[in-house]
Parts: sequence; structure tokens; C-alpha cells
Amino acid sequence: MISSQENSEINAAHYDRIYSKVNVDNILKKIKNLDHFLSDATSTDTSWVGLYKGNFKQCLKGKKVLELGCGDCTNLAVMAALGAETYGNDISQKSGDIIEKLNAKHKFKYPITFIHGDFLESQLQDNYFDIVIGKAFVHHLTNQQEDQFTELIVRYLKPTGIVRYFEPAINSKLLDELRWLTPVPGRPSKLQKVKFQKWKENDPHPERDNSSEHYRYIGEKYFKEVKITPIGTIERFCRFIPSKWNRPLRRLSYKLEKLLPYSINLYLTRSHLVEYKYPKATT
Ligand SMILES: C[S@@+](CC[C@H](N)C(=O)[O-])C[C@H]1O[C@@H](n2cnc3c(N)ncnc32)[C@H](O)[C@@H]1O
Repeated sequence: MISSQENSEINAAHYDRIYSKVNVDNILKKIKNLDHFLSDATSTDTSWVGLYKGNFKQCLKGKKVLELGCGDCTNLAVMAALGAETYGNDISQKSGDIIEKLNAKHKFKYPITFIHGDFLESQLQDNYFDIVIGKAFVHHLTNQQEDQFTELIVRYLKPTGIVRYFEPAINSKLLDELRWLTPVPGRPSKLQKVKFQKWKENDPHPERDNSSEHYRYIGEKYFKEVKITPIGTIERFCRFIPSKWNRPLRRLSYKLEKLLPYSINLYLTRSHLVEYKYPKATT
């Protein structure tokens, strides 16, 4: 099993390469047409559908929000444009470079603050944040890192604070096995043994428990309230649909999923919204 340090190094190298190609002007275009961007993304793109579910957009104004694994910083810029005081942490310094350009090119009410590197070494103020966000982030941590991160999040959150993660969920071993057998662009099938092994060496996803049950366990250890909402039971199959029909069918799939019982959605889902509320006092 990979160590937490090796995992962070693989992630930093992988995402440095990706984020050095980010065009900040594309993010600025999205926040200049914020209503249009959000109405499309939050009805079509799974991570946005999940993260912005309910009244999340409305509750950001004036809130102190920390986004872990802020990545290409699109979501940070969106939350800042919606009036939140935002802080982004990432192991990749390239995220910091993007934030510098965003702050220089756009006048946010509160300029975005970057916290570079290992979150566990951060020295932020206790009882400071209203909301901690992770968008497709936690599954990049080892289970050990996740536990340590959560302990620190609890310290940094206000007693009324909340955590909101959108993450892939693996609740059906059968569907997960089928996923690994199916090749996708950039990832060979598990059946192509040599190619698959080579791909795995640089994969920024550590072996870990990604089940909803696991997120519930961590949540209940540190928080008084935990809610898991499955998202993507039907949408997960839309990736096989040609691009012409893809976006309308994804929008339809989220509506149809709501008709299924919670237990079926939970078992078959591809991802979930994880909400933790009211941190338990730490000793
Ligand atoms: C799949 S990307 C998601 C990025 C962004 N949240 C989004 O939705 O596009 C995962 C992010 O987690 C970051 N990451 C991985 N391990 C990390 C760690 N230990 N501390 C901080 N960030 C980390 C990566 O650098 C990457 O930006």
C-alpha cells in the first residue's frame, strides 16, 4: 500500500502537469456569465449537480469557505463571485498561480487566498470557517490522510460549520469491477495487464475505501449530523451515449433517478454528495 507522502508526491506531479495548461480567461468567461454557466453546469455536469444541490448557491454570500483540492480553481472563482470569502488549498502550486491571475484580472469582493501544500501543515485560525468544500478531492487521499484531514477540519470549523464533499462512490463491487474492465480514453482495461500496471503506477488515486458507508463512518466519528445523497445512478451510463444526445440525456437522467428508492440509488450510484454538520468538540 502506498504511503501518504508518496501519494501526495504523485498527486502534485500529476496535477502540476494538468494545471500548467489551464487558461484563466476561460474561467473568467464563466464568472462573467455566471447565471448561464451555473444553470447549465448544475443541471448537467455531475460534480456541479452534486455540489450545488439544494440551496448551496444561495447560502454562500459573506461566508468563509475553504476549498480543499481546489484544482483548476473554477469552483473557487464561482464561490468568490457569489460573494463568499474563499480560501483554496492544493498540493499543486499551479493552483496558486491560477489564483494569482484570477485576483489580478477580476475584482472579487474578497480576493481569493491560496494555501499551498500539505493541509496538515497549515496553520489557520481555529473556529474560523463556515464551510469546508471538497469537489472530487477526498478520494485522492489515503484513508489515513482523510482521517487526519477531518480532525483538522473540525478544529478550523465554527461550531455551526459544515462540510460538503462531492465524491465518486463505490457501493457495488460488481459495477466497480465492470468499470475497471471497460477501457476509457487514457485508461486501459484491467484485462490489458501490462498497460494497466504501467498506468496504475502514476495514477493519482490511492487504493482506499470509497463507499458511502465509509464516508458515513468518518462523518459520524467527527460530526453530529451526516447526510449522504447518491447522484449518478442512471447518469453513469450516459458516457456511452454520443455527444449530440449526451447533455440532454444527462439532465433527464438526474430527474429519473429521483423516482428510484434511496436504497437502489445508494447501491447503484456512481457518486454522492456527502454533508457533515456540527463538528463534535475535540479533546
Ligand atoms: C480530481 S482533482 C479535483 C480538482 C477540483 N476540485 C475540481 O473539481 O476540478 C483533485 C485535486 O486534489 C488535489 N490534491 C490531491 N492530494 C492533495 C493533498 N494531499 N492536499 C491538497 N490537495 C491535494 C490535486 O492536486 C487536485 O487538484
